[in-house]
Amino acid sequence: MSREIRWGIVGPGRIAENVVGDFALVPGARPVAVASRSADRAAAFARRHGLERAHGSYADILADPEVDVLYIATPHPQHAAIALAAIDAGKALLVEKAFTATPAGAAEVVERARARGVFVMEAMWTRFQPVVVRLRELVADGAVGEVRSVQADLGVAREYDPADRLFALELGGGALLDLGVYVVSFAQMLLGAPDTVTAVGSRFPTGADAEAALLLGYADGRSATLTTSLRYPTPGQARVFGTAGWVDVLPRFHHPDTIVLHRTGAEPETITLPPTGRGYTHELAEVTECLQAGRTESAVVPLADTLAVQAVLGQAADQLGVRHAEDPHAIVG
Ligand SMILES: NC(=O)c1ccc[n+]([C@@H]2O[C@H](COP(=O)([O-])OP(=O)(O)OC[C@H]3O[C@@H](n4cnc5c(N)ncnc54)[C@H](OP(=O)(O)O)[C@@H]3O)[C@@H](O)[C@H]2O)c1
Repeated sequence: MSREIRWGIVGPGRIAENVVGDFALVPGARPVAVASRSADRAAAFARRHGLERAHGSYADILADPEVDVLYIATPHPQHAAIALAAIDAGKALLVEKAFTATPAGAAEVVERARARGVFVMEAMWTRFQPVVVRLRELVADGAVGEVRSVQADLGVAREYDPADRLFALELGGGALLDLGVYVVSFAQMLLGAPDTVTAVGSRFPTGADAEAALLLGYADGRSATLTTSLRYPTPGQARVFGTAGWVDVLPRFHHPDTIVLHRTGAEPETITLPPTGRGYTHELAEVTECLQAGRTESAVVPLADTLAVQAVLGQAADQLGVRHAEDPHAIVG
């Protein structure tokens, strides 16, 4: 029998509320505690979801000896400081996307995790969706030949509100870190780290990016064309182009259940594989199983991939004049 992995949740906001129900569907995983900057919010979340312990500060959950792994669900600039303190406390981590606000922040967290031998994974749930797993298998089997190019778009039209985390720069606002991370990670999964990044876009008055088109270039001529936006909606579709066909990943590609394989000269094949629960079970199971097996990284979302994705996002932000920073005080709230 594998040992039970005890989970703590940091930052009981919108995504934590959506993810927490999926723990019940993950063998070997048990959510036991939550931490909020407010004791009342922590207690209310714990009550709603039947958690044993509610901590009124992030520091308190780091000192909870009955927690093996933390799910960090704060806004992006409030990931790194919490992650560093958690690694020092010996807690394994699942860190929401975007992993950090800056490439330097990501590098520091990864360096610390590796130095201490603590498990850390970015919560890039797309990679664990059953149909995305199938897509990787098909590509590895040569179903579309050699992959030469990837297209992906992910955009929504959001009403501008400078106080909302999607627009406030101190909360990591902008399309790139919230939605662009999905298109970049998808391209990185299939093509690896690019040699060049070219970004075109615009900013909101807060300084956060409103829209961005990215061209990722590879020295051998491969490419990715990616679009992300908080200013206009897009279908949220991806396409993988190979020398012997292509794959459509139907909307919304960041948590799809259907792909259509177009092998050259053959009828299209539609493959549907729905996720379990709300789609977060698969990443929770990966972390749980990695910890049970004593691993310090996931092979599906390795830290090198997270660093490559953050590097692209950082270069794109630089080109658009967006200045992100990590919040050094995130741990104290
Ligand atoms: N995988 C997905 O499908 C998905 C979907 C949405 C969001 N996300 C990611 O999850 C993270 C959180 O997003 P969200 O939409 O859940 O945000 P949210 O609703 O604003 O919740 C974030 C929580 O973080 C805590 N927090 C800590 N420092 C904060 C600060 N300085 N300002 C505001 N809140 C702070 C707050 O809880 P307390 O104050 O109670 O501690 C807050 O409830 C982001 O990194 C986002 O990209 C992932």
